[in-house]
Amino acid sequence: MKDALSEMVHLEDYRESEFLIDKTELCFDLGDAFTVVTSKLHIRRNPKTFNCLVSPLFLDGSLDLDLESISIDAVLLPKTAYSLEGGRLAIFEPSEQFVLQTIVNIKPQDNTALNGLYRSRDMFCSQCEAEGFRNITFYLDRPDVMSIFFTKIIADKKKYPVLLSNGNPINREELDNGTHSITWQDPFPKPSYLFALVAGKLGCVEDRFVTSSGRSVSLQIYVEEKDLGKCEHAMNSLKKSMRWDETTYGREYDLDIFMIVAVDDFNMGAMENKGLNIFNTSAVLADPKITTDASFQNIEAIVAHEYFHNWSGNRVTCRDWFQLSLKEGFTVFRDAQFSADMNSPTVKRIQDVSFLRTHQFAEDAGTMSHPVQPNSYLEINNFYTVTIYEKGAEIVGMLHSLLGAEQFRSATDLYFDRHDGEAVTIEDFVRAMEDTSGINLEQFRLWYKQSGTPIVSVSSEYSENSQRFMLTFEQSCPDTPGQFDKKPFLIPIRLGLLNSNGESHRLNTVGDKEIMFKLLDKKQSVAFENISSRPIPALLRGFSAPVKLNYQYSDEELALLSAKDTDGFIRWDACQQLAFRVFREPSNLFGRDTCPQEEILLTTYEQLLSEEDMDPALVALMLQLPGEPLLHDKKNGVDPEAIHRRRETLRSSLAEKLGAKLEAVYHAQNSYQTYEPASSQIGVRSLKNTVLDYLMYTELGVELAWQQFKESDNMTDQSSALRCLVNCSRSVNYARIATERFECQWKHETLAMNIWFQIQSASFQKNTLVRVEELLKHSLFDIRNPNKVRSVIGSFCGNNLINFHKQNGTGYDFLENHIKILNDINPQIGARLVVPLTRWRRYIAPHSRLMRRALQRLSELPDLSKDISEVVLKSL
Ligand code: BES
Ligand code: ZN
Repeated sequence: MKDALSEMVHLEDYRESEFLIDKTELCFDLGDAFTVVTSKLHIRRNPKTFNCLVSPLFLDGSLDLDLESISIDAVLLPKTAYSLEGGRLAIFEPSEQFVLQTIVNIKPQDNTALNGLYRSRDMFCSQCEAEGFRNITFYLDRPDVMSIFFTKIIADKKKYPVLLSNGNPINREELDNGTHSITWQDPFPKPSYLFALVAGKLGCVEDRFVTSSGRSVSLQIYVEEKDLGKCEHAMNSLKKSMRWDETTYGREYDLDIFMIVAVDDFNMGAMENKGLNIFNTSAVLADPKITTDASFQNIEAIVAHEYFHNWSGNRVTCRDWFQLSLKEGFTVFRDAQFSADMNSPTVKRIQDVSFLRTHQFAEDAGTMSHPVQPNSYLEINNFYTVTIYEKGAEIVGMLHSLLGAEQFRSATDLYFDRHDGEAVTIEDFVRAMEDTSGINLEQFRLWYKQSGTPIVSVSSEYSENSQRFMLTFEQSCPDTPGQFDKKPFLIPIRLGLLNSNGESHRLNTVGDKEIMFKLLDKKQSVAFENISSRPIPALLRGFSAPVKLNYQYSDEELALLSAKDTDGFIRWDACQQLAFRVFREPSNLFGRDTCPQEEILLTTYEQLLSEEDMDPALVALMLQLPGEPLLHDKKNGVDPEAIHRRRETLRSSLAEKLGAKLEAVYHAQNSYQTYEPASSQIGVRSLKNTVLDYLMYTELGVELAWQQFKESDNMTDQSSALRCLVNCSRSVNYARIATERFECQWKHETLAMNIWFQIQSASFQKNTLVRVEELLKHSLFDIRNPNKVRSVIGSFCGNNLINFHKQNGTGYDFLENHIKILNDINPQIGARLVVPLTRWRRYIAPHSRLMRRALQRLSELPDLSKDISEVVLKSL
């Protein structure tokens, strides 16, 4: 850790750049053996950092840059005028203003880390965020250095008819030997992380969008020829996003062209490069036959997210990477608002809370816990986390509720206007909120600086005599790495009080039935007058703050909340809490009498299944028990086998008792409409497949699933049925046949096959690891493709907890071995995959010991990448 620590980057060390780059001229000569990158940087000293001592100019680079020549103002530099160390270029005694030209050779075909310029199948593409540009050429590769870019691309015309970069094409040439060139100009100054280049044989789907001020924008989606028919959904999502950002935030698109390119090999989902977004094919291509409902919605959200970055990220960018949540947290908040508007706000909210609790709470309780604005990092790629993204979005959401929609909009207007074209900080964002609203946000800022999930414990007192109900809130926040004794947060708690019929009490003289209580102190009370009987408080409606809230509800009170509250999140959460109580009760382990909580959950579910006018999507969510990953989120004593057994027992017991009702709902929801990815239909399918999942514990389920598998005309139903069959021990034959048929049917569709890999790797059956080893040898598996790695290794280690945590440690050894392989191929992916092992502290023996041993061995590897060592070392 010592060595690693010395390379840490600290927020407090931030200094403005001493040099600026006004103009960047790039020329790429793309070749099969190597690519020549010529760069002309128009550099001048930063007047703001004037310094009498002439310090060298340091340019970021990498060991993969093979420097051919270097000159200043067209004169070759002598060897004594510069140095090259650890990939970094130092120019001694730079003058006030000059043009630096470098020529480097790079090998995109060897770039398996997919960071910088690389090849995906037959095309060239790039990924520069956060620090990939330095793998392309020497540069001031930091987001506060903004420059206008001219990019000339030269390539073989047959193999690479399409040549793209940011901005507008300004010149085309036919050259010798069958090559051609196109030059692009991006008029908006941008940091290097937003640069992009694509070259290949690509088809294009084109459309138009007329902005609110009447400018016509050409929209282009580039994909391989075979996928041209799968772009309609992404194109519609794009047009909806563009309109939505105009109406909701008053933000118009600013260039004449907006391009999206889909590539198969991509570390993330998508990237917001100026005017030229690059997407993982899994985040663009959609067809009902091979795309699930969840993916349709995901595509809509990602297209929107990347588009929204044009303002929250590109026009106003980050000063440094400690400000990452400034663009990511804000943009996730924006895409969540968009998805809520396009679909069901309640369903979207529950999905987001469930995701946050499962992943962000776990991260905040683990060794990688960090504030939304971190203080230090070793590898910035490790900080694209659920904390930066999802907790960051929750913080923006709290600002939205504290200011109210109108003030919030004025504040974002101020923020965008004030900082257009600048690289700014989270503080600048909060200040715009403060300046518009006049609200003092001093205490609120702690949300960005303090890590850990706050715990709010609530108690109540009711006096019949005085008709008074009092709630007392007490907050605390556990210690996290480097942070102890935290200060109290400002926690907005939206709440209401229900009477025993589930009707809302009036809470004040104005007659409000809901208030926003602001918890500021460590301990604070609020009293309500004229309450005629002991009420049931509905606390944290809409999940108004990212905290863990405890209140000693009776089981009956939870049942009432789940049936009657006005807030969908509260209704869902009440079911979750009931389920948690059953898991905590040891009574029904071996088929003995059910515990009272189970009876109540059962009654609740019975009612739910008979509700006629409830949103089926909400019913489905309420019927889903907390997943195993969430049940593993405890400080210690986690026993994976016991948790799995408990959950299975409860599911089968519920299924048995709900039998006929489930069957009726299954048939009622199983209508044969023409498939549409519309939220009404999605809800119906979601309920149907949730019910089918339960029915698999009954005789009937196997036949229904098999029938659904055979007859379905869409991937949502087909993959759900396959998953049911594969996970059920009584349908081994059907599972085998269905798996084979699926493969035969979809072997030419990469994205469909990812689902096939994923379902098998996540199977609860005992011999899954053996199957996983086979899948790794499958001709369609490729360890250099991140989607495949996630579908097999990620799915096994992250979702299949019962098999990953085998007593004999085979799951841990399996992951360790693949982390070693990924360390050499793609460290960024390796660092994400290793996370399940780092949670070793919470498991009982022998798990904890075996996990730790695997991490220990990894830490001793001689060539461990920065990415993986940061995660591994912090966990030991
Ligand atoms: N800027 C990121 C993509 C990125 C992240 C590039 C890390 C390089 C390193 C992009 O805007 C993003 O956040 N993408 C998300 C999807 C989004 C809907 C949250 C992703 O790729 O998962
Ligand atoms: Zn983003």
